[in-house]
Amino acid sequence: MFEDIKDNNIYKNLYDGQWVSSASNNFITINSPINEEEVGKIQAMTGEEVDKVVSKAQSSFGIWADKPVSERADIIHKAAAILEENSEEIANILTKEIAKDIKSARSEVIRTVDFIRFTADEGKRIQGETLQGDGFHGFSKNKLAFVTREPVGVVLAISPFNYPVNLSASKIAPALMAGNSVVFKPPTQGSISALYLAKVFQAAGLPSGVLNTITGKGSEIGDYIIKHKEIDLINFTGSSEVGRHISEVTTMVPSIMELGGKDAAIVLEDADLEHAANNIVKGAFSYSGQRCTALKRVLVLENIADQLVDIITEYVSQLKVGNPFDDVTITPLINNKAADFVQGLIDDAIEKGATLKIGNKREGNLLYPTVFDNVTTHMRIAWEEPFGPVLPIIRVKNIDEAVEIANASEYGLQSSIFTNDIDDAFHIARLLEVGTVQINNKTERGPDHFPFLGVKSSGMGTQGIRYSIEAMSRPKAIVVNLRERSDKVGQVK
Ligand code: NAP
Ligand code: G3H
Repeated sequence: MFEDIKDNNIYKNLYDGQWVSSASNNFITINSPINEEEVGKIQAMTGEEVDKVVSKAQSSFGIWADKPVSERADIIHKAAAILEENSEEIANILTKEIAKDIKSARSEVIRTVDFIRFTADEGKRIQGETLQGDGFHGFSKNKLAFVTREPVGVVLAISPFNYPVNLSASKIAPALMAGNSVVFKPPTQGSISALYLAKVFQAAGLPSGVLNTITGKGSEIGDYIIKHKEIDLINFTGSSEVGRHISEVTTMVPSIMELGGKDAAIVLEDADLEHAANNIVKGAFSYSGQRCTALKRVLVLENIADQLVDIITEYVSQLKVGNPFDDVTITPLINNKAADFVQGLIDDAIEKGATLKIGNKREGNLLYPTVFDNVTTHMRIAWEEPFGPVLPIIRVKNIDEAVEIANASEYGLQSSIFTNDIDDAFHIARLLEVGTVQINNKTERGPDHFPFLGVKSSGMGTQGIRYSIEAMSRPKAIVVNLRERSDKVGQVK
């Protein structure tokens, strides 16, 4: 099934329905973050090849856009079935390539199967509407708008390393269901898993040229791709830094961006502390905190803080650390640079007087789960996104202070509130400047048909299956202006 995507462990790219090598002869070695072993090599594509890919996507767009939506859905359903059949092989590659623990890697792939199926069904339900002019002064019932949804053209999908299968498919499948063609730039570390996904879509019977891939380092080829004149929409997930850069260098290209986060868990005095601590630990430490929606700070009322900190520390002490192919939660970070960054935040917190409850142990890029109590707003860890296994706990005097600190963040992805008072929960939820508030649960993206969005530096636009299809299509209105009938035929009595 996957034989043609590589030669001698050098992965190729999907172009016009074929797996092709780059003329650059420039390869990027993908080493496993687990043990530095080579997983494979990918190709650094040239600007000229990018031009060919984007042109091919443009010229293939019409064939796909014209296909009945039911036929598009059949192909997308087939992709889900092929992905499911090959889920174990792809989960294994994922674990090797990004050191995601094997259980989470399997669930990433299976969740993606569900996502693709739901998208195929939802795409068939997206309908236009008919509007009548007389709702507006000066217009009559004779003016009718037939509003349909049209694809935007070529969607550039750029995904991050932490979900190379799921966050790629969550762009590709809705873009395709909306009738677009897709140019897909996967994360460099994660490219191999992502190329397997591209093969799955190809094997499902997508017409040639409708989905094409570009590999190469974002820092080298990224700007060339995003500034390409034939790209009609950019759907980007990644860091706020790169997201901001894309906004700065592109002109009048619609973009959807899912970016960084600093999700807070606010714990009130009447919360079920066991439940809160359990959720907080899962939310903060799964995949070693390398999730945009990871809980990245706790804001707890002073008089329950001792108790909550003790329970959190106890749960964290039970987390298993080690090789992602074993049954563990904490695995090596994506690279040493990421581990150095997290270590810098830890060192700063210690230097500024935070109380280390557990952790601050490191073996290369493997960081043990770390919890700090008595974190203050003068510490970097109070504000910066670690993308690693470290959790700061900030004690607050009252709810107002919790909301103030939560909202002072540059980010606005999600927040959690733990309380048994639903009135308080709703009141606080309304005040929080985030895309989603979770009541009595960890922050998380799913289920995938819910809207998923960030405000402030956490993003723009909304994803989630129906929202994504809508975001990657546009309304088209055909307005009919009926003539007045002098003979009054058909006049309502
Ligand atoms: P990243 O460094 O921003 O990279 C994301 C993607 O952008 C990669 O494919 C990268 O390619 C590419 N890229 C880099 N520079 C580019 C440029 N100039 N033009 C075009 N593309 C460029 O992020 P990451 O380290 O992979 O992921 C971690 C970050 O993503 C965290 O901040 C996390 O919070 C955020 N994230 C957000 C969400 C969300 O839904 N809100 C979900 C997941 C992750 P290379 O890999 O080749 O550099
Ligand atoms: O990393 C960002 C993802 O969108 C998070 O998804 O909450 O399902 O882990 P998740």
